[in-house]
Amino acid sequence: MNIIRAIDHEDMACKAANLIAAQVLIKPKSILGLATGSTPLGVYARLILKQRAAEVSFAAVKSVNLDEYCGIAASDETSYRYYMNHNLFDQIDIDPANTYLPDGMAADFDAECARYDHVIEELGGVDLQLLGIGMNGHIGFNEPCDHFKMGTHCVQLTQSTREANAIYFSRGMEDMPSFALTMGMRPIMQAKRVLLVAGANKKEVIAQALEGPVTPRVPASILQLHPRLTVVYCEQ
Ligand code: GLP
Repeated sequence: MNIIRAIDHEDMACKAANLIAAQVLIKPKSILGLATGSTPLGVYARLILKQRAAEVSFAAVKSVNLDEYCGIAASDETSYRYYMNHNLFDQIDIDPANTYLPDGMAADFDAECARYDHVIEELGGVDLQLLGIGMNGHIGFNEPCDHFKMGTHCVQLTQSTREANAIYFSRGMEDMPSFALTMGMRPIMQAKRVLLVAGANKKEVIAQALEGPVTPRVPASILQLHPRLTVVYCEQ
């Protein structure tokens, strides 16, 4: 485990963006596993600047995102598809056809989960997986539970996750979905590299995840077993 301490949020974003850009420079056809939430926003902003400055190109990159809310259309501003298009894909030279997210509007969620696992498999797995972390230790939307779930699955969001994410919905908890589709632990753990970014507000859960026992009760703790985990952690 490689822990990189950042002095502030901007430094964290800069360091993480440098690692992602380096991955793409080394392997232009990289498969990037991407994340949503507020923490990666600065990382994406810096990647956009790097691409505009012709320091890196995403033309040959393909991406798979971790998760999507159930029942939220891609065109809705609160969907993770919208977040990714708006905060990254529309502003870089990636081919939109090469960007994948689960479909939260699918009629059959089991079939959609199987399809998404197949997409990841067909891509040959993830080269670099970017992750944030939830206050309860979730990664993607792998919520605390009795066992680590390996494949893409439909998950009932915990009350604390719903409360934390309700701020993104105009009517708060009233509009906040109760279910999501999330990539499971297999593609995350099989990713060649994992890059976890976390701000100072995640201090306690980061300590639990990286220093505590490996347990599905703290889903991110499984990352202790990843051979190439880099954590960019911001202390203030
Ligand atoms: C959501 C996402 C996670 C993300 C988490 C933390 O729950 N599904 O992938 O890591 O939010 O988000 P933030 O960075 O806003 O704290």
